[in-house]
Amino acid sequence: MATKARTFIVFLGPPGSGKGTQAKILEKKLGLPQVATGDLFRYNLKNKTELGLLAKSYMDAGELVPDEVTIRMVEDRLSREDCAPGAILDGFPRNLQQAVALDQMLAPYGGVTVTPLFQVDDEVVVERISGRRICRNCGAVYHVQFNPPKQPGVCDVCGGELYQREDDRPETVKRRLYVYYKQTAPLIGYYFAKGLLEEIDASQPVDQVTAALLAVLAKHGVAV
Ligand code: AP5
Repeated sequence: MATKARTFIVFLGPPGSGKGTQAKILEKKLGLPQVATGDLFRYNLKNKTELGLLAKSYMDAGELVPDEVTIRMVEDRLSREDCAPGAILDGFPRNLQQAVALDQMLAPYGGVTVTPLFQVDDEVVVERISGRRICRNCGAVYHVQFNPPKQPGVCDVCGGELYQREDDRPETVKRRLYVYYKQTAPLIGYYFAKGLLEEIDASQPVDQVTAALLAVLAKHGVAV
């Protein structure tokens, strides 16, 4: 059985706090793949798979997709070859059951390495989510004000069309925030007790958040 330590970074934080933006930046710097459960569900939805159709009703309502299917999907994703050195987990775990399942999955590899907590006020979350635009083709993330594409509505990376996520409507965002505080925030204590939690001021500009992340990663032995 493999016992080699790998690097597993768990991003914790409310919707719109910048987890996906930073995961994409660190993916390149660290050579670790971003494993984003929200993106995996959206990929399945786009391809009209059974999993995608099941996830849609929960996502549209701002609720969590049931643990059983989510945990199985992550297990499958982490078993792929590109995760051999580890991964950046963005959006998983989101409740205690998922955190326990992740610990079991990662036990042979030394467990979770570090858990940066993205801290931002709710008003910032709403402002960021309402201006978010995503490329339909490659998934690059923009903001109409804070990180605009060169040409409105067009992806700088691949020229694809930019769209607004269904669950980024104000009523759904409110529900997603509620679900975060109720179900995901208890994980702050869970990871703090393990000595893995690192608070990040995620209200700063993107490059400053990246610098803060790299500093806490280095503290936990993850170097660029
Ligand atoms: P998911 O896709 O994971 O959404 P989320 O956690 O709500 O996070 P977001 O993608 O909204 O935000 P983010 O923190 O990545 O911010 P971003 O970088 O885009 O989940 C969606 C749904 O899927 C869930 O509601 C649930 O139904 C289901 N799901 C997913 N995982 C699940 C699980 N484990 N279990 C069960 N169900 C699950 O940034 C936001 C905006 O701000 C962007 O426009 C960006 O350009 C801008 N921005 C980013 N950083 C900065 C900055 N520093 N300054 C200014 N602007 C910034």
